[in-house]
Amino acid sequence: MKIRYGGDDNPEQLMTLDPAWLPAEAFRAIGARRVLVCAEDGPVVDTVLAEVARACARYGGQVHRDPSFDGAQLMLVLTGSGSLPSAAGDVAAEVSSGEPLGEEGYALARPGGTTVVLADGPVGLLYGLFHVARLGTAAFDGWHPLEARRPAKPRRMLDHWDNVDVHPVMGQVERGYAGGSIFWRAGQPRDLARVREYGRLLAAAGVNAISVNNVNVHATEARLLTDRLHQVAAIAAVLRPYGIRVHLSVSFASPMVLGGLPTADPLDASVRQWWADAVSAVYAAIPDFGGFVVKADSEGQPGPFGYGRTHADGANALAAALAPFGGVVHWRAFVYNHHQDWRDRSTDRARAAHDHFAPLDGQFADNVILQVKYGPVDFQAREAVSPVIGAMASTAVAVELQVTQEYTGQQRHVCYLGPLWSWVLGFPFSRRTVAEVAAELVAVSNVGDDPFWTGHPLAQANLYAFGRLAWDPSLDPVAVLDEWISLTFAPCPSPLRAALHEIMDSSWSVYESYTAPLGVGFMVDPGSHYGPSVDGYEYSRWGTYHFADRDGVGVDRTRASGTGFTGQFPPPWRDVYESPDSCPDELLLFFHHVPYTHVLRSGLSVIQHIYDTHFDGVARVVQMRRRWAEVADFVGQARHARVAELLDEQVRSATEWRDHINTYFYRKSGIPDARGRRIYA
Ligand code: GCU
Repeated sequence: MKIRYGGDDNPEQLMTLDPAWLPAEAFRAIGARRVLVCAEDGPVVDTVLAEVARACARYGGQVHRDPSFDGAQLMLVLTGSGSLPSAAGDVAAEVSSGEPLGEEGYALARPGGTTVVLADGPVGLLYGLFHVARLGTAAFDGWHPLEARRPAKPRRMLDHWDNVDVHPVMGQVERGYAGGSIFWRAGQPRDLARVREYGRLLAAAGVNAISVNNVNVHATEARLLTDRLHQVAAIAAVLRPYGIRVHLSVSFASPMVLGGLPTADPLDASVRQWWADAVSAVYAAIPDFGGFVVKADSEGQPGPFGYGRTHADGANALAAALAPFGGVVHWRAFVYNHHQDWRDRSTDRARAAHDHFAPLDGQFADNVILQVKYGPVDFQAREAVSPVIGAMASTAVAVELQVTQEYTGQQRHVCYLGPLWSWVLGFPFSRRTVAEVAAELVAVSNVGDDPFWTGHPLAQANLYAFGRLAWDPSLDPVAVLDEWISLTFAPCPSPLRAALHEIMDSSWSVYESYTAPLGVGFMVDPGSHYGPSVDGYEYSRWGTYHFADRDGVGVDRTRASGTGFTGQFPPPWRDVYESPDSCPDELLLFFHHVPYTHVLRSGLSVIQHIYDTHFDGVARVVQMRRRWAEVADFVGQARHARVAELLDEQVRSATEWRDHINTYFYRKSGIPDARGRRIYA
């Protein structure tokens, strides 16, 4: 596969930047109308005005600013900006009797033939405008009762794993599958026009915070906190008009590597002073700076353990420096010893975060947010929900998702992750779901300098869905996908819509079916994490992750005979997962080592399930490719060609997965396929 994603030396770069879910057409319904904007100018209101003006210039509508104008078909009104037009006044009266809209909320109503969007803050007005775009002509039909919308979570954040310099192993973007960084190129800041467009896309999906650099903070990137701070300030200035605040990943060792101190001990007075001084310089440059993201004591990053301190000590030291300015620390719970994974039962990586953090609950400062990966291992296509999320009753927790598809096909495979995230968000810990427990949602971005933003044009849907589900975790992921289709392919002909749903709705479970069965995880190529390597797990002393032998397969994480990980869950899950009889089949091999002949709820044995799902998975990918070929006439040529080329790769890769996995387990088990298919390629 020879796709080249981006970079200024790439001829493809000459291709226009894809508008993703904001093509001009998505604003037709707005742009064809008389639009009254009642709000005082300011950076975000100017964004609203520019959007409306651009749409009206294109589709023949008009923009009005005088509140006494009485011919408006759409009113965008900021409360507190003087006397309200009468239609808006009625809506305001109704809104004021309910819960406040807040800075980011908005109300929409359609009394007497005028569509009214009302907000208490400029960002709410911008979100309201994008909501009208999502509704399209439906926003202007008939009568709408008042609907007030507010985000479920105050912060909806994307983490970029971008490096400033090109890292010798990880390149410009760690685990990036869409070309280079949109912020930097080989050590230098880039033109930020693309970042402005990115801000626009993110605002339309509801994202309001980004961290700009890799959690593995190398030497050059560490300096973003000091002598490269102006580069962060420039990004913040471009994103501010879209209601997006900027955060920075920092090295825990900054006082040493940047400040020349002999220690980074979080309880040392000179270290604390160094952080305080560094933070006040940041706020002088970026008054609305969001805060720090920290990966400490993990995969080679420095941390408090080096000083005999806890992670609460470490996080609180940085939090103390940020608190006077309203900043926060996102402290990652992805703390494990990669030299020790599977050394013995007690070093199962799945246990590590809970072992480290559950005892610290209640010890974190108020402006620390513990950022917990959704699963206890590492963004696998299927793993249990992390028990840490349910164990931190007195700590603010951000659930971390991965939009970049490190373990889910690396944006070469179609894998719409909305259903996975919905499953995670809906998972009930005792009485509360993950969505209810989580203070915020964070995800690793999948964007690079590729003209399609995300390498695979259909991977844009994951970025959009993250924003929408972070705004409202109760949304149906297929309905969110439908929204994305409607906007992106506006106006979307029904054969194309049908094909996209057929290709994407269940693409996560298709991906799962031809890769790792029954939650076993980690059968990927070590290092790159793409393609099959059944015994390839990089850290295990035994060289396998799944413990397959001639009798059975799976990871025993029970209390009775395994790593004891099941004991980290509250009831009822600690017991549900403990027994293979009650453990859900899709997680069976995540929790249990079972014989190949173990019978699943489907009536199939484990080995037959492995064979069947791998054959079926490939057949479904072949069908995806066929469906995409059928809709060529409805999609722009470049986009169609890119997806078609990637589907060829997906068919090749899925076939490779099928043959590796089936052959491997046939050889181990010696049990032939009951349906007599040829197992070897
Ligand atoms: C994974 C990934 C790393 C990343 C790490 C993290 O292990 O492979 O590249 O740094 O997650 O989340 O910090």
